[in-house]
Amino acid sequence: MKQYNNGEFRKKDIDKEYTVYGWVNKRRDMGGVIFVDLRDRSGILQIVFNRSFLKNDFALAESLKNEYCIKATGKLLARTEEMINPKIPTGDVELMVENLEILSEAEPVPFNIYEDKEVNENISLKYRYLDLRREKLQNTIKMRHQITAAVREYLNQQDFLEIETPILCKSTPEGARDYIVPSRISNGSFYALPQSPQIFKQLLMVGGFEKYYQIAKCFRDEDLRADRQPEFTQIDMEMSFASQEDVITLVEGMIKHIVKKVKNIDLEDFPRMPYQEAMDRFGSDKPDTRFEMELLDLTEILRDTKMNVFRNAIENGGIAKCLIVKNNGDKYSRSDVEHLTEFVKIYGAKGLAWLKYDDNTFNGVIAKNLEDEKLEEIRTTYHVENNDLILIVADKKKVVYDSLGALRLKIANELKLIDEEKMNFLWVVDFPMFEYSESENRYKAMHHPFTMPSDLDKLKTDKENVLSIAYDIVLNGYELGGGSVRIHNPKVQKVVFDALELTEEDIKNKFGFFMDAFKYGAPPHAGLAIGLERFTMLLSGTDNIKDVIAFPKTQSASDLMSEAPNKVSQEQLEELGISLIEKIEEE
Ligand code: AMO
Repeated sequence: MKQYNNGEFRKKDIDKEYTVYGWVNKRRDMGGVIFVDLRDRSGILQIVFNRSFLKNDFALAESLKNEYCIKATGKLLARTEEMINPKIPTGDVELMVENLEILSEAEPVPFNIYEDKEVNENISLKYRYLDLRREKLQNTIKMRHQITAAVREYLNQQDFLEIETPILCKSTPEGARDYIVPSRISNGSFYALPQSPQIFKQLLMVGGFEKYYQIAKCFRDEDLRADRQPEFTQIDMEMSFASQEDVITLVEGMIKHIVKKVKNIDLEDFPRMPYQEAMDRFGSDKPDTRFEMELLDLTEILRDTKMNVFRNAIENGGIAKCLIVKNNGDKYSRSDVEHLTEFVKIYGAKGLAWLKYDDNTFNGVIAKNLEDEKLEEIRTTYHVENNDLILIVADKKKVVYDSLGALRLKIANELKLIDEEKMNFLWVVDFPMFEYSESENRYKAMHHPFTMPSDLDKLKTDKENVLSIAYDIVLNGYELGGGSVRIHNPKVQKVVFDALELTEEDIKNKFGFFMDAFKYGAPPHAGLAIGLERFTMLLSGTDNIKDVIAFPKTQSASDLMSEAPNKVSQEQLEELGISLIEKIEEE
């Protein structure tokens, strides 16, 4: 077994014999002397082939090429003063090789793995094992390990048990599309891969385990984004006899422990913000609080304006809000603002009204149409100054929040308003219990249907305004994790199912076994799950989730290396009792 880490040799280790292993990272042939940077997981050690020391035929050393995997034995020497390389930790020593063994030869690699440059993703994913040799991925994957190690250390210490839950199971209720697996033994029946271990972890509480955690694989067939993968991992936990406060305290402690271990940073206590405040101030339930430029309310000011666009939106139950881009009005030309208008349309806004304030006057189309006293009220209320740009959306609440929330982030990125050094953790609490689904024409659970409502009386009469005991942990504008206090009383669960308009039959089919469990003395319980990849992404400073997964999937949920998903043989299909419909067969 390999005994030494190449990156750890120091001057104190000189004048002894060592056998080192690794890959040829770089090779310089000085004619008679060959220098090789020998790379392993820990870093680089310079090894030297000199005719007077090498016992092998020198041609063997001359045959070395990049990425050859080799074994070398020799004496570690101090480098002469002029040969010291201060850029690497092993820069003042080198190994004078006496014996070389080539363990594996290597063909030229299909892309440059030595520099931190963008590589065509199709190629790097096809040769992922080579991509993984790059320093960036070595570091992120190591950090992922450090995070899970710190999670286990912390939770074991807090008396949690690590318990695995099934992968082949019945559909779970996280709201995405399931991945399904056909059953050979029961033709026509399917397993679902878990979207999360939600149901099982609650059943573990009914089973009396009190404190559970798992580094759990989850599967969701949903549209992929830079922070989403079809197959991802949760730091999943559940506790019996615990309140929201208990979960928050525990998880905050765990996050502080992880960040201290991995980044050696001591975090302050995390602030908390109710959901509604987050929406009102930032247009998002995962606000990036590293910069200001909050959403400001114009509803009352514009309620009785003569301008129809604003008045009608408000009369129809909507709101008007704006962003004030301070002291940067000159950075946005008319056509730039038109681009911003196109941008907010993605979020359903019909338009983006704008005002510029310069030379102590308002400019822009709106400035001509909006009453002077309204302009003045906006100016004084929000301390508008020269070179400010005001961007207004008046529409249904959701459209205003979504469009201005996204615009706020876009502009902050454009103007570099974000302090990238900051790590702003935030608890968002008091989520609504339900959200209305326009497409399905009904209320859906905002978190999941097992979340405890905070106001039972309102459940039947005022669904819109029922809050839940649910909480999210947010970091720098990303939803890192979420959880809730669960319903443990079957009567309350029934009322929630009714509010979700689930029929008796739906309930029995989907959650019958789960509901049965609550008849036998279920303890009150609560929990939370953190997305491990998102957490690793944010701690390692990458914005691409693929960088923290050893073997990730592409945007179209495929693995370019192994070429999954792929077609299966006719025999396999027949065994499973599956016949493909023509459309797919013809492809
Ligand atoms: P939720 O659905 O909010 O909660 O998921 C928890 C966290 O998992 C991460 N996450 C993802 N990460 C990468 N790719 C994805 N496709 C993806 N989807 C979710 C996010 C998210 O915050 N069972 C509940 C938790 C609970 O109530 O205890 C649940 O799964 O970081």
